[in-house]
Amino acid sequence: MRFDILTIFPEFFGALPDQGILGHGVVSRALRTGLASANIHDLRGFTHDRHRTVDDRPFGGGEGMVLKPQPIFECLESLAIAPRPARDGSCETVILLSAQGKRFTQSTARHLATLDRVVLICGRYEGVDERVSQILCDEELSIGDYVLSGGELAAAIMLDATVRLLPGALGHADSSRYESFGEGDAQATGDEKNVQDSGSGGVAASTEVQASPRSTNASNGLLDYPHYTRPAEFLGVSIPEALGSGDHQAIRRWRRQAALGKTLANRPDLLSAADLTDDDREFLATLGYRPSD
Ligand code: 6GU
Repeated sequence: MRFDILTIFPEFFGALPDQGILGHGVVSRALRTGLASANIHDLRGFTHDRHRTVDDRPFGGGEGMVLKPQPIFECLESLAIAPRPARDGSCETVILLSAQGKRFTQSTARHLATLDRVVLICGRYEGVDERVSQILCDEELSIGDYVLSGGELAAAIMLDATVRLLPGALGHADSSRYESFGEGDAQATGDEKNVQDSGSGGVAASTEVQASPRSTNASNGLLDYPHYTRPAEFLGVSIPEALGSGDHQAIRRWRRQAALGKTLANRPDLLSAADLTDDDREFLATLGYRPSD
């Protein structure tokens, strides 16, 4: 999978493959192993004046400067990306990053991960000439309801969220399936209470980190459950008893309830769309949750 990022701050992304946001962890590994490539393009390289001007004053007056469409157009042209709309069945997409875009979510990341090529255009200043969005892009995306001074951080976020979903990007094939906003929320079939016994036989001492069951049901539209590692007691705070018990059913139950509690505390808005069982609802009721909340 290939990413092209158009920006007036190419240094923001660091030097491949060992510096900056592209040089660490899962993204770095995916780039080094060829699972993905990220090409950073300096928009100033597509200007023709002595000052390498990428912006200009807004028609109609007002504050601030606006990114000109021409350097963006020429940069895309150099990448053999034609003005939109893309042909049917195209496996590439051109995205303008701006606070005015549709919301980027885990589901957007899952879609991007199916494509061959994603072009991210980082907006800057007070805006980008609207014809960029109108003619040169397939969609306009935002990462949340706040204003950033530019799209570079958003591009880094989308790259990270997408690359880690590529098959083979994570160490463990299933690592992304059951996390918060994982595939579980897309499917919500509830048929995969996928507990694997790795053969520890449940005899591990309570101070040991146990291998199974692995990430269970903290999905289906809920936030992930809390995680603990050694030591079993830290600054006087012990791990939840169930997690050290070796009793897989108790562990599963604790995790499900902790995920419900966490979601109620931090993102109660998710509960109305979550895939809840009768047991879940009963437990939530003990926490004071009423479905209309
Ligand atoms: Cl993609 N760009 C900018 N400038 N601000 C944002 C954003 C993007 N997403 C949220 N705020």
